Amino acid sequence: MTPAPTSAGPTAYRASLLHFTADPAQTQHAHDWHEDGLLITENGHIKAAGDYAKLKHTLPPDTPLTDYSGKLIVPGFIDTHTHYPQTDMITSPAPGLLPWLQTYTFPTERQFSDPLHDADVASFFIDQLLRNGTTTAMVYCTVHPASVDAFFEASHARNLRMVAGKVLMDRNCPEFLQDTAEGGVRDSATLINKWHKHGRQLYAITPRFAPTSSDAQMQLAGELAQAYPDTYLQTHVAENTDELAWVKSLYPSARSYLDVYERFGMLRPRAMFGHCIWLDAVDRARMAATQSATAICATSNLFLGSGLFDFAAADAAQMSLSLATDVGGGTSFSMLQTMNETYKVACLGGTHLSALRLFYLATLGGARSMQLEGTIGNFQSGAEADFIVLDPQATPLLGRRSARTDSLEELLFALAILGDDRAIAATYSAGRCVHNREDQ
Ligand code: GUN
Ligand code: ZN
Repeated sequence: MTPAPTSAGPTAYRASLLHFTADPAQTQHAHDWHEDGLLITENGHIKAAGDYAKLKHTLPPDTPLTDYSGKLIVPGFIDTHTHYPQTDMITSPAPGLLPWLQTYTFPTERQFSDPLHDADVASFFIDQLLRNGTTTAMVYCTVHPASVDAFFEASHARNLRMVAGKVLMDRNCPEFLQDTAEGGVRDSATLINKWHKHGRQLYAITPRFAPTSSDAQMQLAGELAQAYPDTYLQTHVAENTDELAWVKSLYPSARSYLDVYERFGMLRPRAMFGHCIWLDAVDRARMAATQSATAICATSNLFLGSGLFDFAAADAAQMSLSLATDVGGGTSFSMLQTMNETYKVACLGGTHLSALRLFYLATLGGARSMQLEGTIGNFQSGAEADFIVLDPQATPLLGRRSARTDSLEELLFALAILGDDRAIAATYSAGRCVHNREDQ
């Protein structure tokens, strides 16, 4: 299927503009804010972002201009860890990760042997991303190659920038979900050749987690990651203490859970590790030294009782951080609600996260973690025009609170703590409107 066309010729949007050029935790001047701003796009890319008064004269006559005055335009959110096949089982209760996997996750993922089901769920999942302002996600499919085709077909048809991969899993799971060491990696190579860099699609080699891949599969997956260094790699690490004990029993000679992945050559740029709660100081240093990235999954970690991500330790080690929903362990598709819970998790660990930092982590922080800075995540000239329109008047309470905020920081806090899909007035991908709240 050919992707939907991007709009040609310049197009302009008037609103307050916010985007980031650096991490607010590291630099004072990390963000660019234009209260009365103008965003100009052309051929699906950012042409300019700045003050309306300065830029309006640069527009050729008859340039279409959409007036979003009173609203905020920010880069599209980036969700660096989520599972599309778990959409229909979101909010499934269980006493912890391992029983949750056995009771709900594996039976749900079994249904993805049916390509019609795959297409139906992929389409609904992508609709949810867009109505929540998420324009890029790193997505787990299931063990079935058809589940990957269904996801990429749905994403490519809408010309979205998405990353996804086939789950590799050849042991310690029900037989109906097992691949084999060689078969799983062969299928992954076929999918890389079919989808990686096909339009805006990118492939992630996806061993589910160390307990469900044999040594042989881990070895082959690591070799595949080295053979295709510009692909992504995604997996789970150090999420839950029962999982940690299980990994210790499976790999008694490994220094740590993370060390299992390092032994198989999986720590590298474009490797995204979900959770990273129960890491130690050596692990954190290895994450930073290898440019491996972390997907912080706050709603999931609270829902499954997994633990609290340690921001102070992660920042001290200079780890590369990003935010993620981890649907369906996570309880919301909304990156605003994910910011809300991330803020509280950090608070409980003694770290006060600013709203600016939360918005950075959900935009440029994600892009940097994925080595996609300059492509997505901010409004630098030439970047892809993936952006969203936030509405501070979305609900009576949000409107009332927003009207009484005294600073950008307070306004962003109100959006992060009170906002959800209702606060996303519109979502644009490659310069094209892919969600308009008024049309729903
Ligand atoms: N660890 C292994 N598989 C999964 C999964 O599907 N979700 C979460 N949250 N953790 C996992
Ligand atoms: Zn996950």
